[in-house]
Amino acid sequence: MKGSSSSQVTTTDAANLVFLGPPGSGKGTQAAILARNLKLVHVSTGDLLREEVQAGSDLGKQAEHYMTEGVLVPDDVIIKMVRERLAKPDAQTGFLLDGFPRTVAQADALTGMLSEIGRDLDAVVSLVVDDAEVVRRIAGRLTCRGCGAVFHVESMPPKQPGICDKCGGELYQRSDDTEEAVRSRLATYNERTEPLLAYYREKSLLRSVEAVGSVESVQQRILEALRDTQ
Ligand code: AP5
Repeated sequence: MKGSSSSQVTTTDAANLVFLGPPGSGKGTQAAILARNLKLVHVSTGDLLREEVQAGSDLGKQAEHYMTEGVLVPDDVIIKMVRERLAKPDAQTGFLLDGFPRTVAQADALTGMLSEIGRDLDAVVSLVVDDAEVVRRIAGRLTCRGCGAVFHVESMPPKQPGICDKCGGELYQRSDDTEEAVRSRLATYNERTEPLLAYYREKSLLRSVEAVGSVESVQQRILEALRDTQ
């Protein structure tokens, strides 16, 4: 990673990073912490889509049924949304993409977008968690309607039930966090997104991280994996 010392990833590092991982692997939780510490803009395609759904925009109306079913929103829609987001001023000094790319077509589009502006990816972090843990995490997840912060009824409970610690917003269970949708999201991940592991391994960008244990210990493993990125 640009600017890293061999012993510590510092807050001055500029980087262009991607987080891959099955639903519930902790991408959003870990990306929020890492982006804050490294001063990167955190771009979650799931959060961007949920904002569009909440706003009732044309994009939101187009995306909603795919999301509820637990299948991917079409590539062209997502690629356009990410292209627009990465063109904003706050993304110019470094970004952390959470949930994008999810298909080979999206990965090729990202490579193209970055080469147009003379930038490269520094690393792709793959969070590794088994299916049983995914189901346990998603069944207990609570999400804030206001700021999108994520909690878990057992492993990361809010201080006051139903209320976000960060903004005081209402906590809710996502409509795609049903058992049926989770099964579909896992199958979609295995079929459409897992091929990206080989895609990025071939480019020597892949860093696989065991994503079980406390949030802090997983974050530590991610930092260690990124230290190998020069
Ligand atoms: P998205 O919102 O990206 O969903 P996802 O990939 O299924 O990931 P999740 O948000 O479910 O989980 P996460 O890995 O972020 O885990 P989290 O940190 O919340 O996408 C939703 C939908 O949008 C998709 O299904 C698709 O339809 C569409 N979409 C999005 N991007 C797209 C794209 N590029 N192309 C096409 N369609 C797209 O953690 C989960 C829970 O575990 C939380 O409760 C958390 O508190 C808990 N937890 C986290 N870490 C730990 C830990 N270490 N130990 C115990 N519990 C933990």
